[in-house]
Amino acid sequence: MKYNKISPYIAATGLLVVLACSSPKKSFVTENNRDAIDKKVDSVLALMTLEEKVGQMNQYNGFWEVTGPVPKDGAAALKYEHLKKGWVGSMLNVKGVKDVKALQKIAVEETRLGIPVIFGYDVIHGYKTISPIPLAEAASWDMEAIKKSAEIAAAEAAASGLNWTFAPMVDVSRDARWGRVMEGAGEDPYLNSQIAVARVKGFQGDFGEFNVAACVKHFAGYSFAESGRDYNTVDISNNTLHNIVLPPFKAALEAGALTFMNSFNELEGIPATGNPYLQREILKGQWNFKGFVVSDWGSLGEMVSHGYAKDLKEAAERAANAGSDMDMESYGYVAHLTALVREGKVSEDKIDDAVRRILRVKFTLGLFDNPYKYCDETREQQTIGKKEFQDGVLDMAKKSIVLLKNDNNLLPLKKEGLKIAVIGALANDKTSPLGSWRIGADDGTAVSVLEGLQNYKGNRISYAKGADVAIGQTVFASETHINTTDKSGFTEAISTAKGADVVIMVLGEHGLQTGEGRSRASLDLPGVQQELLEEVYKVNSNIVLVLNNGRPLTIPWAAQHIPAIVEGWQLGTQSGNAIAQVLYGDYNPSGKLPMSFPKSVGQLPLYYNHKSTGRPGNGQPTESVFWSHYIDEQNAPLYPFGYGLSYSKFEYSNFKISASSFGKGGNITVSVDVKNISNVDGKEVVQLYIRDLVGSVTRPVKELKGFELTEIKAGQTKTVTFTINEKTIEFYTANNKWEAEPGDFKVYVGTNSDTRTELPFSYITN
Ligand code: BGC
Repeated sequence: MKYNKISPYIAATGLLVVLACSSPKKSFVTENNRDAIDKKVDSVLALMTLEEKVGQMNQYNGFWEVTGPVPKDGAAALKYEHLKKGWVGSMLNVKGVKDVKALQKIAVEETRLGIPVIFGYDVIHGYKTISPIPLAEAASWDMEAIKKSAEIAAAEAAASGLNWTFAPMVDVSRDARWGRVMEGAGEDPYLNSQIAVARVKGFQGDFGEFNVAACVKHFAGYSFAESGRDYNTVDISNNTLHNIVLPPFKAALEAGALTFMNSFNELEGIPATGNPYLQREILKGQWNFKGFVVSDWGSLGEMVSHGYAKDLKEAAERAANAGSDMDMESYGYVAHLTALVREGKVSEDKIDDAVRRILRVKFTLGLFDNPYKYCDETREQQTIGKKEFQDGVLDMAKKSIVLLKNDNNLLPLKKEGLKIAVIGALANDKTSPLGSWRIGADDGTAVSVLEGLQNYKGNRISYAKGADVAIGQTVFASETHINTTDKSGFTEAISTAKGADVVIMVLGEHGLQTGEGRSRASLDLPGVQQELLEEVYKVNSNIVLVLNNGRPLTIPWAAQHIPAIVEGWQLGTQSGNAIAQVLYGDYNPSGKLPMSFPKSVGQLPLYYNHKSTGRPGNGQPTESVFWSHYIDEQNAPLYPFGYGLSYSKFEYSNFKISASSFGKGGNITVSVDVKNISNVDGKEVVQLYIRDLVGSVTRPVKELKGFELTEIKAGQTKTVTFTINEKTIEFYTANNKWEAEPGDFKVYVGTNSDTRTELPFSYITN
């Protein structure tokens, strides 16, 4: 079978042997085979014209009914022509073996060199079988489960022809107004880093046929958009960049991520796409990244709107020189890069470097060995939607749920004899749980909460919608839907609630009210849902509030009045089953919040690992106003980072430290006993925080430095031990490097970031 046309060229140049020794199935990158890949890459590069090189740096969006007739005119016709000339290195948003194969065939069989195209897609939390949104998964603190979830997504995506996912997003997010907090792992760099590693490993595996390349995004600083408004200006210090923003990117790189995506925002006045400090100096320089950087969608062209380039040509020049290797949908490289090289504005060395990186990834994925590696229709049919994947996402969904409140053990519910009223549009919604990125999943394919509850036959369930959360397509009309004022369903909801033993109210945000471009200025329950909640409460206060949302919400009234609150996010295809199993106690919740829940939107940005300030106060009201606080709100969050309850009760005791100090190369251990004092088996995430009391630059009041998710049987005690060494305490210091500074510290353990259980220790270097 003729896979591509490189081989004859290579045979002619005597390099056939190099290609022939590559194995068709595996191309796992080790230091040893990296050299071999680099030789192959050079052999291909040597054959390429400048136009073909620039072509590799060009990525197009899917553009016409691929398997249908050839486009005759317009942009599609141009893209089609470019593909045939070998001027398209990558495509996005094409999926399904039939379509991918049709395009790959053109690249491989109709272009001069037959270099395969790499196909990317936003497989963020599942492909057809949808997992919880990433923020929800982060709440599991379960790295194995998160890795498994990424494996499922990769297997389905790869079976449908895709080679590359634009995930994980590792942007540390402190501002819940920003709609994309749903796509990351929350506010903490350490947790984000662990999860980045799990996701990269899950997606990429050993680059077999069920794996896809990962793309770590958005490099860098995107989540710090001022006032939480997507795409807005970012203005953060170098200190924040290095200590907070960059660590998860570095962790993902060290886990072997093949590609990075830059971002829409500026940093120090320079858009990330044209930013040499980020891409050349840090990523490719200090970190020695060997893969390639793709721009974000149109971000190269947007440098004109930023006021950083006078036109698309200058934007292309700046992006290429700054180390942005592939242009996603700006058409800047394909239109201008060849001329820019000929005019001496971009060196051919830089082009060669970018192309080498892109080809390296294609070789690593095995696309040169077999460009149709991902194009097996039988595998596609047998893989997508497999039963075991449904089980996998159900498991992930249960682990993602966070129990926020459970007064008088209202939960779990009895399985028999109850009259249950279920209220809320989201309770009966089979699309919203699919979240903001749903790719191959069809609308209406999630299990709704109502369906999940109806699987338990022992109780009598009645349902009333009460109020809409969002109707229909909210992508382009979010404002009108989110602010719906229709209360016509209240009467029915109130009468349904009246005679019930328990009312389950499913309220929150529709899956399309979060995500890219969906920033919010208010974090209250959208529309009239808060009013609905209060009206129902008047007739029946025995309410379990199940939240469905993609970001922390401001629910102080509910936190005060409603006896039980369950954070049910947007949990994917198996959402309703997961929620029902938690409500009925068939799964004992163990999730912990990956983001602080504010009391009011005015507290944002809100995060536990803040600095002390010069006037920290003690959190209590005083006579004086001259300390860092609000006169109309407390500083503390409603629910802190790391918070979450269980049907079990855990008691912490016997907190010990092995020594009061350690020196260079040394370490100390801390341990704590955690007893399950209830009669229910459960899981607890034991968390370790430190505080560096004095630094060459100011340090956060607390930083997560370790955690252990541990199963503790009823009545059992477990001792959990953590090691503290130089790695634990190092940070980006005033010397502009990562190092451990001698001094005094505090270490804390506990069930959430608000723990006060502390011990002192020191790091001594002389
Ligand atoms: C988003 C990226 C995404 C890309 C491709 C952009 O708008 O910011 O995260 O990968 O589109 O869909």
